Amino acid sequence: MKHLLSTADLSKDDALLLLDTSAQMAATQSREIKKLPTLRGRTVVNLFYEDSTRTRISFETAAKRLSADVINFSAKGSSVSKGESLKDTALTLHAMGADAVVVRHWASGAPAQLAHAGWLDAAVLNAGDGTHMHPTQALLDAFTIRRHLVGLRGGGADRDGVGSDLAGLKVAIVGDVLHSRVARANVRLLHTLGAQVTLVSPPTLLPVGVEAWPCRTSYDLDATLADWQPDAVMMLRVQRERMSGGSGAFFPSPLEYTRYFGLDGRRLALLPEHAIVLHPGPMNRGLEISAEAADSDRAVIVEQVANGVAVRMAALYLLLAHTEAAHTEGTSL
Ligand code: ASP
Ligand code: CP
Repeated sequence: MKHLLSTADLSKDDALLLLDTSAQMAATQSREIKKLPTLRGRTVVNLFYEDSTRTRISFETAAKRLSADVINFSAKGSSVSKGESLKDTALTLHAMGADAVVVRHWASGAPAQLAHAGWLDAAVLNAGDGTHMHPTQALLDAFTIRRHLVGLRGGGADRDGVGSDLAGLKVAIVGDVLHSRVARANVRLLHTLGAQVTLVSPPTLLPVGVEAWPCRTSYDLDATLADWQPDAVMMLRVQRERMSGGSGAFFPSPLEYTRYFGLDGRRLALLPEHAIVLHPGPMNRGLEISAEAADSDRAVIVEQVANGVAVRMAALYLLLAHTEAAHTEGTSL
């Protein structure tokens, strides 16, 4: 693996290696000294053309915990506002000796272009491109689901469910699928790991061609929760910034959306007792998820953020640490 661009590129073995390495990384994070020497002397650039809180901070934390040098670049306040192209920005990063470039971009496909255009000699990690993909988000979601529903439940697996796939688990992904790279990344990865997925959304927020995705679809949240009994429910943010013409073009009113597709205390009660609730963040509290659901003890939303650091450490480690420079610095955990 040279780049991490899409969950569609990951074989089951790749996905399990990433998840199992994340578990090792997570274990190092409960030590008194959290910093590992693994990527000493390597440079990781965070290149963000779109806003981010969790992904940007956790990639930065992950790189620093592995002792890499980190350069943070955000398009706001950079020469992008003077019209500099992605190519010229990439050539600048190349000149600075970037070993890995973590990129978030509003254009679907920008990370793949960076990886394959020959402008850079660096590993490219997709931190979210347009409505296309968000692979580290899907990996941290799978890690969180596995830990709760395979690991913590026992049955022979260790605490993190190391080595196990997600066969037999049912995941409902609910809300604005149309604009969601999180949904696309998760459907692919969960399918690869053997889980069953149902997308629940109003017809206006399901993408054309969804029939070809490896999942079921439904317009009825109550029926999906009550009859299908998912083990995990992943709520998606209503992405108003991607709705040109305003959210009114996609659903009659926020109140109506909440009534049919919002997760609240009543709907939580329809779920099996062990079921967990995920949300990638940022949340629209009161729209797709009520405060009661977001703050309930079923919600693992804050844990998702913590797991994001371990997963991003694993991704950086697996993409960078096999190279010669890292070996000479010592790669052991
Ligand atoms: N933070 C996630 C993303 O950037 C989800 C969201 O924004 O709704 O895709
Ligand atoms: N989940 C997620 O990607 O959050 P940010 O947009 O804050 O990075």
